[in-house]
Amino acid sequence: MRYLLGLDIGTSGTKTALFDEEGNTIKTATYAYELFQPQVGWAEQNPEDWWKACVNGIKDVIEKSNVQASDIKGIGLSGQMHGLVLLDKKCKVIRNSIIWCDQRTEKECDYMTKVIGKERLIKITGNPALTGFTLSKLLWVRNNELNNYKKIYKVLLPKDYIRFKLTNTFATEVSDASGMQMLDINTRNWSEELLKELNIDKNILADVYESVVVSGHVTEEAAKLTKLEINTPVVGGAGDQAAGAIGNGIVNEGIISTIIGSSGVVFAATDTPRFDKEGRVHTLCHAVPNKWHVMGVTQGAGLSLNWFKRTFCAKDVEDSEKAGTDVYDLLTKKAAKSKPGSNGIVYLPYLMGERTPHIDPNVKGAFLGVSLINNHDDFVRSILEGVSFSLKNCLDIIEDMNVKVNEIRISGGGAESSVWRQILADVFQYSLTTVKASEGPALGVAILAGVGVGIYDSVEEACSKIIKGNSMVYSNTDLKEVYSKVYDVYNSAYPKIKNI
Ligand code: XUL
Repeated sequence: MRYLLGLDIGTSGTKTALFDEEGNTIKTATYAYELFQPQVGWAEQNPEDWWKACVNGIKDVIEKSNVQASDIKGIGLSGQMHGLVLLDKKCKVIRNSIIWCDQRTEKECDYMTKVIGKERLIKITGNPALTGFTLSKLLWVRNNELNNYKKIYKVLLPKDYIRFKLTNTFATEVSDASGMQMLDINTRNWSEELLKELNIDKNILADVYESVVVSGHVTEEAAKLTKLEINTPVVGGAGDQAAGAIGNGIVNEGIISTIIGSSGVVFAATDTPRFDKEGRVHTLCHAVPNKWHVMGVTQGAGLSLNWFKRTFCAKDVEDSEKAGTDVYDLLTKKAAKSKPGSNGIVYLPYLMGERTPHIDPNVKGAFLGVSLINNHDDFVRSILEGVSFSLKNCLDIIEDMNVKVNEIRISGGGAESSVWRQILADVFQYSLTTVKASEGPALGVAILAGVGVGIYDSVEEACSKIIKGNSMVYSNTDLKEVYSKVYDVYNSAYPKIKNI
């Protein structure tokens, strides 16, 4: 049997997963790390923490499975998108990575819009200037840390830094590179015109490949550290969203996915690049050769519940630790005790600004409509509902772009809760399919690795063999009215609170 390894360098930790060629999970390991918030709206991580988590994870899955390293035929890398990793001439990390949810770059976005123009930015990169994307972060370093900027030899994305550590090559691939906002998503290559107009040297960027292409091989040094076999091929891989989509079988038009991870996403594959004129959803290259995708993003999805747990749920954390159960399970069960509409509370999930549909890095979160009758259960439920409304905003825009919606598949940590899944189905008023593959992005990039090393003929073929629908979550039509009323209230809130 041949095996494939998938790594997902996420925001809360790195998941390493080993699969056999039929897509069965053999072993997984997850190592967590810290997120630093030096100022409100800032978010940074230390790339060395990612690397340590990868080394430990790879070692674990090899040692704890009975699989010989030589039977691992390919590795795929996935990870949090948009993060800025800067290396100097000695290939040392210059400063902590400014990651995807960091919102410090509003000025730089204004500058990009002024120099390039909003419409032209959308036409070339698929998106208006976005604080979350890598280019504005790079410009921020140029404006605020010129000494660091002058030291830059290479700019990498989080998973591409891990590629460098594993293979000693500087490479990226089209799906993640699209989220840097320096790629022309039409030609699937760096945009010379944009780089020139913004005075950025193309040499600091890595070589860009299609996501299934082998971009490097494990070095002797990395093999020693990880117990991998020297020369194991590493394929391009994908940003976590495109990778997760492949792990859910979202490779053709018509099947779309919704993912509740730290961020929340509604994702659709398209055969040609499709744009929202206002740029409220992202258009990016898909990790499937010659395909693109659109996606709407809620910044604070799982992040909202995680924040609420850390801030207001000490007792629940203690109770679940004593009982040896999962605290999120406990919290979402509490939400089930409240009612649709959370007894009047409407939660706006703008803890780190918002992307879809507002593109507003400054807006803050809120609980609206709180009264004396409310209890802890209502607050938890309002978070699950608020995030679901935000995802519905994404879905509405995608439907308005005439993207077919024949089936919606749900995944991500938040989707492990049956309560949250049901709320989402009721808010969407669509039935949702859960998929058997639970490893999402890690499976997605293992599939890409399998295509790259010739185990599968194509991504589409592999997905149709490996990814199977599991069970359905049926939407409850009785709740259509109540949720559409609360959705109207939710939508009416942003214009009123945005300047407060
Ligand atoms: C996608 C995005 C997030 C991060 C972290 O645009 O910013 O999904 O990749 O998961």
